[in-house]
Amino acid sequence: MDVVEGKLFFQGRLQKACVGMEDGRIVSVRKVLKGDQHFDFGERLVLPGAVDPHVHFRDPGMTHKEDFSSGSLSALHGGVTCVLDMPNTVPPVIDLSSLKEKRESVAGRSWVDYGIIAGIAPGTDVPSLGPCVSYKIFLGSSTQSVLLDEDAVLARALDAVGRSRRPVSVHAEEGSMLLRREERSLREHEECRPREAELSAIQRLASYSGRARMNICHVSCKEALPLLAGSGMTFEATPHHMLLDSSMGLGPWGKVNPPLRRRADRESLFQAFCRGQVPMLATDHAPHAPEEKDKDFNEAPSGVPGVETGFAMMLSLVRKGFLSLDVLIRAACHNPSLTFGLNKGDIAEGLDADLLVVDPRQTTVVKGRDLHSKCGWTPFEGREALFPQAVFLRGNLVLRDGQTMSERRGREVSYA
Ligand code: DOR
Ligand code: ZN
Ligand code: ZN
Repeated sequence: MDVVEGKLFFQGRLQKACVGMEDGRIVSVRKVLKGDQHFDFGERLVLPGAVDPHVHFRDPGMTHKEDFSSGSLSALHGGVTCVLDMPNTVPPVIDLSSLKEKRESVAGRSWVDYGIIAGIAPGTDVPSLGPCVSYKIFLGSSTQSVLLDEDAVLARALDAVGRSRRPVSVHAEEGSMLLRREERSLREHEECRPREAELSAIQRLASYSGRARMNICHVSCKEALPLLAGSGMTFEATPHHMLLDSSMGLGPWGKVNPPLRRRADRESLFQAFCRGQVPMLATDHAPHAPEEKDKDFNEAPSGVPGVETGFAMMLSLVRKGFLSLDVLIRAACHNPSLTFGLNKGDIAEGLDADLLVVDPRQTTVVKGRDLHSKCGWTPFEGREALFPQAVFLRGNLVLRDGQTMSERRGREVSYA
């Protein structure tokens, strides 16, 4: 058994204690433990690794933007020890052969554990995909996405998902309500993808909520919150929708779907998050190369990177007193694990020993060029973040003081 000692986040609060780890799992949490290797982190915090249920690592087919190796390294540096990767790649992962190919091609290349989400297109035969951690449906179009928006097809897909007992994440913007016209600014982008498109999609999905376990991705506007409360659906909020808005002069660098909206939306989402009313933090890490973004607004693709900065920026906001550590750990670790049935997301006996060591005094100013994504930029330039000093993945020390300490050990997750 190896032991990590520090100020542990255990049973909802910080306490000085030791975690014992064996065969990749947490086997014991006690005030005092003796192990073969003993890592004493003193007064530094020991937290569960974050689980990001929504990333786009662009592999296969768009690997000039990102690939599984660079995306997962970026996650690792940000304290994210598990990601669920989206299917809008080239080719899209929407049938058994593309799913198999992706499984084979990413095996052995990830720094963190991962789940591969299968997309459901109109022709997808859900049972033929075999076991999947989760599914994805795009109601409204975005980067390389395959739409599924017709009522009868949607209902059939949700029934098939329901029979699989796995959850489905939905990009909830009503495709028919999106305007196709030239856009010159973030405000015009917002007008072309109005909040009503999101609200109407959420209402339509809520009417199907008995059919499958649904998760609404990246909620962008304040009116969505009361619709979702008590709907039986889980949902995600992103750091960009909670910290950025369309008035901040980001131009194409802030172009994302659903759009950044008004200051009041951003503040409502962030306040709901701080009150513990947002089930999951998800970054929707969607990198594009700088030369693709640095274009005429209308031509620039939608999407912003974020897997490395999301949890770390939120930790710094905990340090500043905006929200409690308990609320953050629930949204970033515990709830994503619970929603997707992973053996992760807390410091507790039997769970995977995915641990972060954080020194709350060591804040960093975020700079795109210091991050590990291939894309090399961030919309959060200049923000404060608390990056982990050490990361254990299933009991193995994989990152320490900014240096990787082993080979890539990420594995596809198992789930229940
Ligand atoms: O802005 C976005 N970018 N929204 C999406 O739904 C997809 C994503 C991407 O993959 O680039
Ligand atoms: Zn989306
Ligand atoms: Zn996405």
